[in-house]
Amino acid sequence: MTHAATIAVEVAAVAQVTPLIKHFTLTPVDGSAMPAFSGGSHIIVIMRRANRVHRNPYSLMSPPSRLDAYEISVRRMEESRGGSHFMHDEVRVGSRLEIAHPVNLFALDKIARKHVLIAGGIGITPFLAQLQDLHAAKVPYEMHYSVRSPEHAAFCDRLIAEEGERVRVYHDSRNELIDFQTLLSSQPLGTHVYVCGPAGMIEHVIATARACGWPDSHIHWEQFSAPPVGDAFDVFLARAQRTVHVLPDQSLLESIEAAGVDVPYLCRGGVCGFCHTKVLRVEGELIHNDHFLSDEEKASRKYIMPCVSRARCSNLVLDL
Ligand code: FES
Repeated sequence: MTHAATIAVEVAAVAQVTPLIKHFTLTPVDGSAMPAFSGGSHIIVIMRRANRVHRNPYSLMSPPSRLDAYEISVRRMEESRGGSHFMHDEVRVGSRLEIAHPVNLFALDKIARKHVLIAGGIGITPFLAQLQDLHAAKVPYEMHYSVRSPEHAAFCDRLIAEEGERVRVYHDSRNELIDFQTLLSSQPLGTHVYVCGPAGMIEHVIATARACGWPDSHIHWEQFSAPPVGDAFDVFLARAQRTVHVLPDQSLLESIEAAGVDVPYLCRGGVCGFCHTKVLRVEGELIHNDHFLSDEEKASRKYIMPCVSRARCSNLVLDL
């Protein structure tokens, strides 16, 4: 996806939801309707700073029937490279941003006979939109929502009011843990499970579901990795005939874009595979942080996902 597909938006409302999470309402600057989307979709928010551009993915959490505005929530990340701090500290009512059109990489399965939704922390956001789709679909579902403590339980009152017994909240501070084994071994045939939250929770749910005999087609997860920081390095783009310097707190993709070379992307979180790039030469180490390449592909040193992966090397040449 290129920047031609962006929508100019204005921030209509900002609310502090928990000590770490802010909620933003974005309305289109030109007053037209926002593009339609389904629950589980995300947008890329483009934040232009004086000397930097951040493009971060955020799940849409507003009802898919509402197209006069989009709603997102942003967790302040301690290890932020700038994007989440920018949203928390510099974006106010009236601020202008750009967003990319919504893309759904975490859609509800249309022929599932039941849905089990498992959220951890800020991972609740895609489910808030999906719940609206589920109300209309009239398919049985249940939600399990794990939070650090009551003060970090974003949107909990609303969930309990709207969902009643279909949602169960677990507080780490009270040692309340989701019993994944019991939960996943007792579901009717045709159930699909969806998980969004910390990496450890996602891995645990996937492993437990597989061990309980769930087919992979019935296990859905979403985790956009933030590009980790690392050492600075240089990369040579063979087709563009340009050398690009990647700063420690900049992703490889951001550095290439800043040099004026477009790379296709959808998720910017190491999941979708759109930024798949051929490595023509590497002397040193490729640091793969994506969830897309197989272990064999990573070991081959022939491919890299520049949205989240980087290198520790003296010579890196990419087919760009
Ligand atoms: S943009 Fe999706 S994996 Fe890189």
